[in-house]
Amino acid sequence: MLTDSYGRVATDLRVSLTDRCNLRCSYCMPPEGLDWLPGPDQLTDDELVRLLGIAVQRLGITEIRFTGGEPILRRGLAGIIARTAALTPRPELSLTTNGIGLARLAGPLHEAGLDRVNVSLDTLDAETFVRLARRDRLPDVLAGLAAAAATGLAPVKVNAVLMRDANDLEAPDLLQYCLDQGYQMRFIEQMPLDAQHGWRRENMVTADEILQALSSKFALTPDDPGARGSAPAETFLVDGGPARVGVIGSVTRPFCGSCDRVRLTADGQVRNCLFAREESDLRTALRAGADDEDLAARWQSAVASKLPGHGINDPGFLQPARPMSAIGG
Ligand code: 5AD
Ligand code: SF4
Repeated sequence: MLTDSYGRVATDLRVSLTDRCNLRCSYCMPPEGLDWLPGPDQLTDDELVRLLGIAVQRLGITEIRFTGGEPILRRGLAGIIARTAALTPRPELSLTTNGIGLARLAGPLHEAGLDRVNVSLDTLDAETFVRLARRDRLPDVLAGLAAAAATGLAPVKVNAVLMRDANDLEAPDLLQYCLDQGYQMRFIEQMPLDAQHGWRRENMVTADEILQALSSKFALTPDDPGARGSAPAETFLVDGGPARVGVIGSVTRPFCGSCDRVRLTADGQVRNCLFAREESDLRTALRAGADDEDLAARWQSAVASKLPGHGINDPGFLQPARPMSAIGG
């Protein structure tokens, strides 16, 4: 198992398949994009699937989420999913995507073994979308969402990050849209993980503010807190239920104490936290011929040193060297 010194057990693996993206969300990367990882630095499909096999067979990982950058840009995504779904015991497989390309790929990915998707959607207004993501792609995202629901990638979850004076007034509309379409809406506090280091606490729309905004249009009642487990979202019944909305207060309501996640970057580095300042290099060992036992031991020691929390609220907080797009959401 992947256990840390605080007794937490990592069972949920987030895998970044590429650091590239076809959007430029302002809370993530600058308009010009970033210096992408050189091809040879990235794990090949074979290398990646081998590491996933070790995670599932030796380390107790039961859930694998593919992220990016934008994971749909990874060539061979369906093949990676199919090979991961063939592992024993079969892990739960999900994808965090911006939705572009999902209209075409939802069916094939579902057939390959994908169970669920989370799609990022910060606005329903085409002009605001261009301002936030710097690309005119809102219709592609909405089509992707519809295709995911139609093909049975259930539940379809929608993630939104609210920003002051940008899309913060849209919270009720976003929730209404998701209620109408049968998607599960979740709002996420903006975290200091952007490549430009432009995060400012005073610009962050807090969980309290999100709940207040939603309460202007909906009656929210807290869901059974016992059902939350290690899920980061606090969920609320909307207008008595059964529909729910989630609020992820990563900064103001941290859930590090029940975190069950570990991350693998596209270049084969294990990160025990989004905010970790150190990574453990599995790729070099793997390419030098390390056996499965050795790689598993390296992975275990990477998780063992996990810190108790992200420290965002500490005076000495330092943002990690790599941005969200290179770590995986
Ligand atoms: N803070 C909060 N959420 C973020 N995401 C990307 N960058 C940030 C950030 N700085 C979200 C995306 C996507 C998921 C991968 O994380 O919107 O839904
Ligand atoms: Fe791309 Fe996601 Fe970053 Fe937006 S938040 S630029 S969709 S990686």
